[in-house]
Amino acid sequence: MGIEVKDLLSIHDLSSNEINDILDLAKTLKTQLKNGEQHHLLKGKTLGMIFQKASTRTRVSFEVGMWQLGGAALFLNANDMQIGRGEPVKDTARVLSRYVDGIMIRTFSHDEVIELAQFATIPVINALTDLMHPCQALTDIFTVLEHKGRLQGLKMVYIGDGNNMVNSLLQACAKVGMDISIATPKGYEPDAAVVAEALTAAAVTGSKIVLCEDPLEAAKDADVLYTDVWASMGKEIEQEDRREVFVNYQINQSVMDAAKKDAIVLHCLPAHRGEEITEEVLESKQSVVFDQAENRLHVQKAIMVLLMGK
Ligand code: CP
Ligand code: NVA
Repeated sequence: MGIEVKDLLSIHDLSSNEINDILDLAKTLKTQLKNGEQHHLLKGKTLGMIFQKASTRTRVSFEVGMWQLGGAALFLNANDMQIGRGEPVKDTARVLSRYVDGIMIRTFSHDEVIELAQFATIPVINALTDLMHPCQALTDIFTVLEHKGRLQGLKMVYIGDGNNMVNSLLQACAKVGMDISIATPKGYEPDAAVVAEALTAAAVTGSKIVLCEDPLEAAKDADVLYTDVWASMGKEIEQEDRREVFVNYQINQSVMDAAKKDAIVLHCLPAHRGEEITEEVLESKQSVVFDQAENRLHVQKAIMVLLMGK
């Protein structure tokens, strides 16, 4: 069991076996926690958490997770750091490497995270960039596995913006042999380089990847339905325009009717009811979004143990 890479920047960097190791360890840690068993696997270790964007789930789950592992986490608001006043990323990386045992970062530019990891001598975990959200997508497949008992051969359907979330879901599905159909409006497709990478992984695992524009066509026979906000953090200025572009890209009863009867609904949250998902679907029995949110804790603990416990 283990992860070869130093950092978790993109799911594409992980092998299928490494992903399975993360999922297995997350399951063990979740069971132990529920049974009241302590697991101080990162005793005395510290995690620096740099946030350039808002967060509820990511901040709380990483901080609590680190504490449960016997370590400590520091919340670092990028705007209060010198990095927010122009200190180079490469200097920040080398300074933090002298104090803490791991860095978690949420920011805009994916390249900034790559540079941070290059110069840091400690593991760097991508906690969301404009391009990817790997911790969330690993949590999502863990949640599917919990609810469906398997991953291979299942069909995930994503409806909405071709954003960071779907980029990471594509990579995750391709690596574990899940099919994924993605419906986005023209001009809002997932990142082309990510699609190309996912197709290479899918050729190995047999995962089928379909990109289209029609949400109902995509939703046909879905085992898992997924959506995310129409305007991600940093795109607030486009919010009004996007409300028009995405009006038909909603998980609602018609979409549910096209999916399998026992399909589950996922959303990384926060959700905008009445936009990408209806209140009725979000609050329905098929929606497992709060199990999914909880699982961020267990999956990220597994990631931290595998990266920082080496
Ligand atoms: N899903 C997710 O990353 O939530 P936060 O923005 O609250 O961290
Ligand atoms: N796509 C969303 C995800 C939030 C967790 C965003 O980037 O804002």
